[in-house]
Amino acid sequence: MSATDREVSMWKNTEVSRRLRLSVPIIQGPFGGGLSSVDLVVAVSEAGGLGSFGVHHLQAAQIRETAAAIRRRTQRPFALNLWLPYQDSENPQISDQEFAKHLTLLAPYFKELNLDLPAKPAQFWPRYDEQIEALLDARPAVFSFVYGVPSPEVLQRCKEREIITVGAATTPDEAIALEQAGVDMVVASGFEAGGHRVSFLRSAEDSLTGTFALLPQIADAVRIPVIAAGGIADARGIAAALMLGADAVQIGTAFLACVESAASELHRNLLFSPAAKYTALTKVFSGRLARGLHNRMMQELKAYESTLPRYPIQYWVASTIKAAAQAQGRSDLLALWSGQSAPLLKHRRAQELTRALEQETTALLQRMA
Ligand SMILES: Cc1cc2nc3c(=O)[nH]c(=O)nc-3n(C[C@H](O)[C@H](O)[C@H](O)COP(=O)(O)O)c2cc1C
Repeated sequence: MSATDREVSMWKNTEVSRRLRLSVPIIQGPFGGGLSSVDLVVAVSEAGGLGSFGVHHLQAAQIRETAAAIRRRTQRPFALNLWLPYQDSENPQISDQEFAKHLTLLAPYFKELNLDLPAKPAQFWPRYDEQIEALLDARPAVFSFVYGVPSPEVLQRCKEREIITVGAATTPDEAIALEQAGVDMVVASGFEAGGHRVSFLRSAEDSLTGTFALLPQIADAVRIPVIAAGGIADARGIAAALMLGADAVQIGTAFLACVESAASELHRNLLFSPAAKYTALTKVFSGRLARGLHNRMMQELKAYESTLPRYPIQYWVASTIKAAAQAQGRSDLLALWSGQSAPLLKHRRAQELTRALEQETTALLQRMA
């Protein structure tokens, strides 16, 4: 190996890789809503990156079981990811009449799928205070989170357990708020990213900066390591993120498209199809702004977005049609989360993807050197 080659391969030795014990600073983005999988986490962590499991839809006992299942398969570091309570998400209010009125709007979709309308549940989503206890007990190497800043008590308990905390920012002010609270690292989440816009200081609609503009601003605004997310799917994206001040990248859509993820075959195949050229931000599937492939339900309910119930009510209702829509191959009625870089995807296996990203980034940086 020449001196230049040695220097080039230094790109992998960042503060994030050192602190998280990674051989390559690539983080598999966590997926909420049941799309993360133990297989995906194990594949990425074993390839030297950081596998992440989104546990925000799980009850405390399931979080403990998930961490144990990952540990049975790998000794490598991994992340568990939660959504923090935001606005009234822990105690969403909707009267029986409002709930019934809302279902009238969605009734035609239930009818198309031969489904009965669901009854209002006693609880729409698992409770954060129970989830966080389970996560702290599980002691993952990393606790990553979205929609705000955890309490000082939770951050202190992470420190005592040597759990590294990683928060997400969609604006420089959010990154500063995370740093000032004592969070260890920040994900700069550009608006190209698949899934939810996780803004917490201003509305998501007011925080739509792309990765290319957001990342250097956040790198200038904070001293903690910055992880770039949104629109990165190949070596060019990784090299650009490093140039713009990132210490690591967090890649979602490209890993979601791999066979190891828990996304349906229908969803994964669409990510490799011409449909992947068209994504949009929508509140239709969850009551919160998120990016997915454009489809009929998104289009038809667009006019009602401002009147839909808030998260987690709308998320719960939309999830009640998910299994039937999937079983019936109805991509027009499913949330098909995707980022804007899906047309760049090539790989369908997570280890192959991680290794290709590592080798191709090294080769690209060598050419540039
Ligand atoms: C289906 C899906 C679900 C996601 N769920 C979460 C989540 O629960 N928590 C989180 O921190 N990020 C979540 N994300 C964001 C990813 O972890 C990652 O930051 C993002 O996908 C990166 O942008 P990219 O899709 O352009 O690669 C999700 C992304 C997708 C595509």
